[in-house]
Amino acid sequence: MRVLGIETSCDETAAAVVERDHNGHGRILSNVVLSQIDDHAPYGGVVPEIAARAHVEVLDRLIGQALHEAQMTLDDVDAVAATAGPGLIGGLIVGLMTGKAIAMAAQKPFYAINHLEGHALTPRLTDQIDFPYLLLLVSGGHTQMVLVKGLGDYERLGTTIDDALGEAFDKTAKLLGLPYPGGPEVEKAALLGDSSRFLLPRPLKGEERLDFSFSGLKTAVRQLATTLEPLSQSDVNDICAAFQAAVADTLNDRVSRSLARFRTVFPEVAEPALVVAGGVAANKVLRACLQNLCAGNGFRFIAPPMALCTDNAAMIAWAGAERAENMTADSLDIAPRSRWPL
Ligand code: KG4
Ligand code: ZN
Repeated sequence: MRVLGIETSCDETAAAVVERDHNGHGRILSNVVLSQIDDHAPYGGVVPEIAARAHVEVLDRLIGQALHEAQMTLDDVDAVAATAGPGLIGGLIVGLMTGKAIAMAAQKPFYAINHLEGHALTPRLTDQIDFPYLLLLVSGGHTQMVLVKGLGDYERLGTTIDDALGEAFDKTAKLLGLPYPGGPEVEKAALLGDSSRFLLPRPLKGEERLDFSFSGLKTAVRQLATTLEPLSQSDVNDICAAFQAAVADTLNDRVSRSLARFRTVFPEVAEPALVVAGGVAANKVLRACLQNLCAGNGFRFIAPPMALCTDNAAMIAWAGAERAENMTADSLDIAPRSRWPL
């Protein structure tokens, strides 16, 4: 089963070809991603209209490149999969319509993929892990803890009640005068800072529910920065270090509750796994914190390679391949959805 995947839900235009064999093992034949970061950086965040136009300009070429790198033509593809949501509607329209048109012209089955399902199924492509497992998705647009029970069977245990974690990193960076995207900048500055100089809040810490909250933390950073104005470089470094320590501590508390929940729901699973995905998973301090937490609770910690943690089309092609093996194709009438919970 070879599937062409298309991803255009945010600021990455991507196309890929993935193969799934009869044993359920996956192989990436090509994975092309074009980031629009430079187009959006001057505005300090993703501008939907710019994103949609940029997808239109490059998508055809990227699909051609993905097929070429996989040494295939459309005739060799068994199915076409495209992200149908959630995400920015302009970009979704571009990718979904292109995918449908290709499927129709080449007379191939079409699969409309939920972007979050793409992230959720990635560890089955990279690490061949079995259901069920826990997924922590932390990106610029999403912060969710998901119980992945089976194909198409997902239970969201918790989500952010305000900002996504990546968004909190980006907004904190902006408040401190650091460039976009802010996550890597905050991590770099934090390395030079003293995390004990300021104490920032740990939102929802100790609460029974499995949700996340980050806007209070961002507000505390704003207040602190205003009090200290004008900020020296060491002020910025110390605030970043305090911010990251607060995030690590909060994640530790929130995620440990979900690990316990997993144990309650699936007591028979001998070696449960926590999978982390999304751009924030690149953060070394947070990774180490989650790794320790897993080690202390008897969980395997799985972080797919960075290129497959962030937005890409291989995960969409793979979700399409898993669906194609087990489910009937989607109708070409399907509409894009800017909101689409798993
Ligand atoms: O998954 P992703 O590439 O795109 C989507 O949001 O879908 O995630 C991007 C987010 C941005 O908010 C970025 O600031 C954050 O991931 N990020 C990081 C790091 N690298 C990227 N956050 C914290 N530490 C990092 N090293
Ligand atoms: Zn994503």
